[in-house]
Amino acid sequence: EEIEKGGYDHFMLKEIYEQPRAILDTYRGRLLADKGLIKMAGVDENIEKFLNANRIIIVACGTSWHAGLVAEYIFEDLARIPVEVEYASEFRYRNPVITDKDVLIAISQSGETADTLAAIKLAKEKGAFVFGVCNVVGSSISRETDAGAYTHAGPEIGVASTKAFTTQITVLTLIALKLAKEKGVFSQSKYHEFLTELENIPSKVEKVLLSNALVEQVAAVYKDATNCLYLGRGYNFPVALEGALKLKEISYIHAEGYPAAEMKHGPIALIDEHMPVFVIATKKGHYEKVVSNIQEIKSRKGKIIAIVTEGDEMVRDLADHVIEVPETFESLTPLLTTIPLQLLSYHIALMRGCNVDQPRNLAKSVTVE
Ligand code: G6P
Repeated sequence: EEIEKGGYDHFMLKEIYEQPRAILDTYRGRLLADKGLIKMAGVDENIEKFLNANRIIIVACGTSWHAGLVAEYIFEDLARIPVEVEYASEFRYRNPVITDKDVLIAISQSGETADTLAAIKLAKEKGAFVFGVCNVVGSSISRETDAGAYTHAGPEIGVASTKAFTTQITVLTLIALKLAKEKGVFSQSKYHEFLTELENIPSKVEKVLLSNALVEQVAAVYKDATNCLYLGRGYNFPVALEGALKLKEISYIHAEGYPAAEMKHGPIALIDEHMPVFVIATKKGHYEKVVSNIQEIKSRKGKIIAIVTEGDEMVRDLADHVIEVPETFESLTPLLTTIPLQLLSYHIALMRGCNVDQPRNLAKSVTVE
């Protein structure tokens, strides 16, 4: 096992650090920026199904569901295709309206999650085209789907999912870009800019990982918190949910993720000097609005830990701690902003003496309903 951990103390930390490589492996051979091309057999062979779809329905559980939420923003924003994201367990039991004009995308790291598998079977019965985004090659979901794309993240052993999440987002971004181009929503030059920026992501993730020591210091300050709030807007709203989930899963601290603007409809009542609030406040995407949310937290004495774009000054003046990430396209920010939140949960769990790789009551893959 020590050998498998490759010199890291835990699988989770190893897998966090593998992300630059995992993202590269995900787009390697698919993204041909010099040729201005994305090659994905499962999409290429079924391109008409995607282009003629009334909507895309995404089903998943846990962290994969959060990747689905990011994908909703990506598909709608870039490719202008309506998307609905569903918990597989809710979808399958509520007599959903599905037709043969729907494309269902199932996202699953393990490819074995019982509820996701059942949702696929239901959608197939109703005539939908079913596409899988799995990590484990040859898994049940990858066999059950009509077509698919693997994430190629390599084995993920830590129960709390990390590299599966960022590689799922990478695959879904590739698909959305391809469809945006095919639909003519994207010009060749805009498409080309995106492909080039995607190629920059692994080195930008590498840069975010350099903040590990700073994140560890922040973790030491908040390790004894009993409640935490995570806020983000737009593309970073699902990142807030994922940040909160990571903390709950491995450190057993109660955490809630919320869209920043919804704070005033409830969670603001919780804020006092004991409440750490993690806010994703990158420059693009409603930045000013998030800054005003931060001011509201500050005036109620909440502790503010902000994930900001490199060089940010406005939030730095307001927040108790800032963690910087490099600038990128708004739709690609989740690939960067999620990294410090993974590290933060890791360090807090470790400092609290929790079993990071095998948290209590949780399983890597839930094959029962
Ligand atoms: C379990 C795991 C999570 C995972 C979820 C969905 O709850 O602990 O890390 O996100 O299942 O798993 P899947 O393999 O379908 O992505």
